[in-house]
This record gives sequence, structure tokens and C-alpha cells, in this order.
Amino acid sequence: MAVRKILKFGDKNLERVSRRVEEIDKDTLELVNDLRETLNNAQGIGLAAPQIGVLKKVIFIDLKDETGEIVLINPKIVMKSGKDKDSEGCLSYPGYEGIVERPKRITVSGMDYKGNNLEIKAEGLLARALCHEIDHLEGILYTKRAGRIYKIEEATE
Ligand code: NI
Repeated sequence: MAVRKILKFGDKNLERVSRRVEEIDKDTLELVNDLRETLNNAQGIGLAAPQIGVLKKVIFIDLKDETGEIVLINPKIVMKSGKDKDSEGCLSYPGYEGIVERPKRITVSGMDYKGNNLEIKAEGLLARALCHEIDHLEGILYTKRAGRIYKIEEATE
């Protein structure tokens, strides 16, 4: 287990399409643990494997609420409805945010790290986080979907 370096905007790996995970092996479990450690270290709410340079379809989300940790392997959006505009940021593009339109509700299918099939119905922030991380697996950054990117105001005391 290790905290890995998070690739930043401009790195070509962030624009590549990740491969499906065919078998959940030792490497996959190590990847999940690295995603957890790296995400917690960066105090973020979501991270996708390509952001630490591993082009595999694995995402890790932790909204730090009662939902708990969500690990999804080979996630796929199978249903979406409605529209919702809100601000979004990315650990690969620190210091900035943008307004992105996403579906209001989605259903995502995939596998957990034990290989069990999962289906997650989500709305609000969780739906947004899932869409954002699944986009990473297709090499799409939110900056491509945002109308405008702006610098987060420095907190002043
Ligand atoms: Ni991101």
C-alpha cells in the first residue's frame, strides 16, 4: 500500500481510455488500496485509477458521509435521467473548479473488489462523483464538459 502521485492536467495518461479488469487479482486489490490511501491523503472525494497512472477501469469514491467507501470495477452508467448543474473540481486540476451539467439521477453497474456484481442508484453529489470518475476511465476530464473553469478563491482569515 502506498500513497501514489496524482497525475496532473497535461499528462497524456489522463486522456487515455482505460482497460476493463478481467480478473480481480492481487494487483487489483493493491490498486484499490493505493486509490484509498492516495484519495485520503489528498482529502478528495473521488479518484480513478488512471489518475495514478494505472489505465484500468477502477474508481474509488468516498464522500466522507454515511454512504461509506465505494469501489467500482468496470463501472458503467446504465440509466440516467434529469439534469443538474453544479460546481466540480478534480485532484488532477488543483485550485480550480467549473460548472458542469450532469444527469440528476443515474444507475451504475459494476463489480465490487470481491467480484460481486453491484448496481448503485445515485443522485446529487454521489451521481456527480460517479459520472466524473467514470469519465476519467474514458480519458475525459471535467474541464472538457465545463463551460468555464475558475480559480478557487483563497480562503482569507
Ligand atoms: Ni477528477
